[in-house]
Amino acid sequence: MTRIVLSEEQLPTAWFNVLPVMPEPPQPPLHPATREPVGPDDLAPLFPMGLIAQEVSTDQWVDIPGEVLDILRLWRPTPLVRAERLEAALGTPARIYYKDESLSPAGSHKPNTAVAQAFYNKAESVQRLTTETGAGQWGSALAFACSQFELDCKVYMVRASYDQKPYRKIMMETWGSEVVPSPVDQPDHPGSLGLAISDAVRDAASRDDTHYSLGSVLNHVLLHQTIIGLEAKEQLALAGDARPDVVIGCCGGGSNLSGIALPFVPDDGVRLVAAEPSSCPTLTEGAFDYDFGDTAGMTPLLAMYTLGHDFVPPPIHAGGLRYHGDAPIVSSLVRSGRMEAVAYPQGKTFEASIQFGNAEGKLPAPETGHAIRAVIDEALAAKETGDERVILFNYSGHGLLDLSAYDDYLHGRLIDS
Ligand SMILES: Cc1ncc(COP(=O)(O)O)c(C=O)c1O
Repeated sequence: MTRIVLSEEQLPTAWFNVLPVMPEPPQPPLHPATREPVGPDDLAPLFPMGLIAQEVSTDQWVDIPGEVLDILRLWRPTPLVRAERLEAALGTPARIYYKDESLSPAGSHKPNTAVAQAFYNKAESVQRLTTETGAGQWGSALAFACSQFELDCKVYMVRASYDQKPYRKIMMETWGSEVVPSPVDQPDHPGSLGLAISDAVRDAASRDDTHYSLGSVLNHVLLHQTIIGLEAKEQLALAGDARPDVVIGCCGGGSNLSGIALPFVPDDGVRLVAAEPSSCPTLTEGAFDYDFGDTAGMTPLLAMYTLGHDFVPPPIHAGGLRYHGDAPIVSSLVRSGRMEAVAYPQGKTFEASIQFGNAEGKLPAPETGHAIRAVIDEALAAKETGDERVILFNYSGHGLLDLSAYDDYLHGRLIDS
């Protein structure tokens, strides 16, 4: 079987909450001024109560609202694909499977949470959302979700990507969103996710009709993404593989990795691997500490691996991996030893993406290329030992609007600092 497909009726109806089964629970977010744990009232200016409740929920399962399921059904369940042609090209005995999250309207896993977040805001009569975006995948996901719920949306896009990727901007505008380059007050600055978060939070905090929406990092975002791993579990069983040996995702803030990996946290013997850029090596070289989620220091302090909230990563093409920190849940899993992390220079990731593209036909997003690098290395290690390892990874997005990055790679313009 090459594509393992579930019917619409098999779409999961509840998200999996990892908090009750974490080896070490993540430490609570702290108020930036008092350094006391934040309460719901501290978060209420930015988020609806429905999402604040999910942020701290310890229920094992959280029901997915019917209105959210109705929209997710536009592209879910996504297929699980056995990458047989890549296996053959590598000559590996490993079995490689990937969840194809590139099939969503915006082309990545991001709409899984964007739709849920727009729903909970609409349910509490919020009229407008602000957000940041790196490469434009998250911004386009939220723009799509806001168009479904008739919400206004303003996206602060990291300037380096705004200049490099005009098609993402057009996509967001077509779905009715306003897009501006960030940082808004420093026209010569290439920008960073941390700065764009500051712009978006400042906007939301200044208006009563507006909330802020984050595409990664927070517990509720990771919760919404677990639909990926829940489907994958069903599909692997249909393919005759009881469980994977290793689950791999690229890691920016940690949402697509968590989506595929968190449902496997309780399963003994399943390795979980985060793949990140060596130019923004949060998990492999960052310090585990409380730090701000944004550059200006407006957000609560999160317990995470961080390179410091004022770290500005080099403008690599994987804009979605240019974040100074990581989700507290992912950080805690790495710290406890339940999850591993690896880092790659971008040239190695494009090499992997091109190998994947020539074997399987699909051109991955530069972010996804980091996961594929790790997958290929795992498959080659399995070849060395003759091990029939089952490798599952998240194909978090397509790269069809990132072709300028491929052009740079193919013509020797890609710089690995
Ligand atoms: C395709 C794709 N993969 C991965 C990421 C990284 O984000 P996260 O770590 O939250 O999945 C992004 C972020 O923009 C993305 O667009």
